[in-house]
Amino acid sequence: MEEKDYSKYFNGPSLNQAKKRGKMDVHFIKDAFNIPYEIATLGKNKKYYIQTYGCQANERDTETLAGILEIMQYTATSVFEEADIIIFNTCAIRENAELKFFGKLGSAKKMKRTNPELIVGVCGCMAQEEAVVSKILASYPYVDLVFGTHNIHRLPMLLKDAIFSKEMVIEVWSKEGDVIENIPSTRANKYKAWVNIMYGCDKFCTYCIVPYTRGKERSRLKEDIINEVQELIEDGYQEVTLLGQNVNSYGKDLKNGESFASLLEAVAKTSIPRIRFMTSHPWDFSDTMIDIIAKYENIMPFIHLPVQSGNNEILKLMGRRYTIQEYKKLFDTIKVKLPNCAISTDIIVGFPNEDSDQFLETIDIVEYCQYDNAYTFIYSPRIGTPAAKMEDNVPLEEKQLRLYKLNQKVNMYALQKNQAYIGNVVKVLVEGASKRNHNILTGYTESQKLVNFEGDFSAIGTIVKVKITEAGTWALKGEMIYE
Ligand code: 5AD
Ligand code: SF4
Repeated sequence: MEEKDYSKYFNGPSLNQAKKRGKMDVHFIKDAFNIPYEIATLGKNKKYYIQTYGCQANERDTETLAGILEIMQYTATSVFEEADIIIFNTCAIRENAELKFFGKLGSAKKMKRTNPELIVGVCGCMAQEEAVVSKILASYPYVDLVFGTHNIHRLPMLLKDAIFSKEMVIEVWSKEGDVIENIPSTRANKYKAWVNIMYGCDKFCTYCIVPYTRGKERSRLKEDIINEVQELIEDGYQEVTLLGQNVNSYGKDLKNGESFASLLEAVAKTSIPRIRFMTSHPWDFSDTMIDIIAKYENIMPFIHLPVQSGNNEILKLMGRRYTIQEYKKLFDTIKVKLPNCAISTDIIVGFPNEDSDQFLETIDIVEYCQYDNAYTFIYSPRIGTPAAKMEDNVPLEEKQLRLYKLNQKVNMYALQKNQAYIGNVVKVLVEGASKRNHNILTGYTESQKLVNFEGDFSAIGTIVKVKITEAGTWALKGEMIYE
């Protein structure tokens, strides 16, 4: 098929441009968000639906999208078919996330036929990929609006353009990125909140698309983060999760002496009952960070520490910057200084050239660490990344077999770890009724274990004691203790 030239539309993405890391200063922009007068009440009597894929960064972005739409008087609906505006907040991390999105995007076409006024928008990491935007232009012409991860705050303007123009509106910035403050948001949860502490990633692991889709590592100012946490405390929040692709790098770009350890300590000194953080790269996990986690009771004993592979050659090909020996040393230090700390990980199987012995070393590291939980993935080539230039030479059946064997191990340890809780009394932040059984409460322990338990519904939103009576691979069961 002849390649079409879509260049006239581009205000579009460029992965090549997005990988550049220049010396340009990051701008802290506090007044970029505004709503043109003409569309201030555009959403009156209209409903919005946001379909979110992928990681916590996207979930947090969806809260921002929701906040902006609600200021414009749209109200949320959980019924896709009922919406006047649908936004797909996409994920580009693996091919299956992309396929899921295109499947669902197809179903918006029918709705557009019955409701020509319907606005269909696409944002998130996939919008930063030129191949995706070209595909949308070629095969999904009913999409009204495509925007990227750097210009969410421009949603009102873009919506205005989309409504008044006949052509698809595309605005994607392939730049290193700024820090935009003061955008409204509607949080999805009343008791625990995501707090971005930094954006982007400079690690460039060879398989990963994130450094291209989310720009360079740039930290928010500490005072802005602390102010956000203070507001959350005033609103009755019990827990914050400090978010970044690699939180350990926090502050390095600010060049004012701030570090993740110092930020964590400042957040711990507020009165927020629970602090979590994600994700930590093993490479720059400092001893000071471990000491701060140990020092403050409101920093939860749970660390997500992606290992990705147990073999040094594969780790090198992945560009992970540590050897498995260094990873084990860090793991051991954490376990010595934080004996009750739960640790989870991410693992990729079937990376280019991974042979069966190298895979067995991944099984070895799982046996060594006995993780509380692990997110396991089949390697998926991402166009534009260095790994995509390597031959994807592990056959799919072999990848699937490795994933199966790995999951058997991972699940066995997850169950063992959970069983060790039987008889213990743990503290649980009660989030509400269980989705499966409305008579049962649900929440998480300090070490991030899901607990379903019988108890008093007036406890929702508070931290209570629960005695654990049963354990499965994915969750614990228990009874609330009344004091
Ligand atoms: N293929 C498979 N898994 C990937 N991840 C990131 N990129 C890819 C890819 N191309 C996994 C890593 C990362 C997690 C968020 O997703 O394990 O830690
Ligand atoms: Fe991707 Fe590596 Fe950055 Fe994580 S640290 S977002 S895996 S490049």
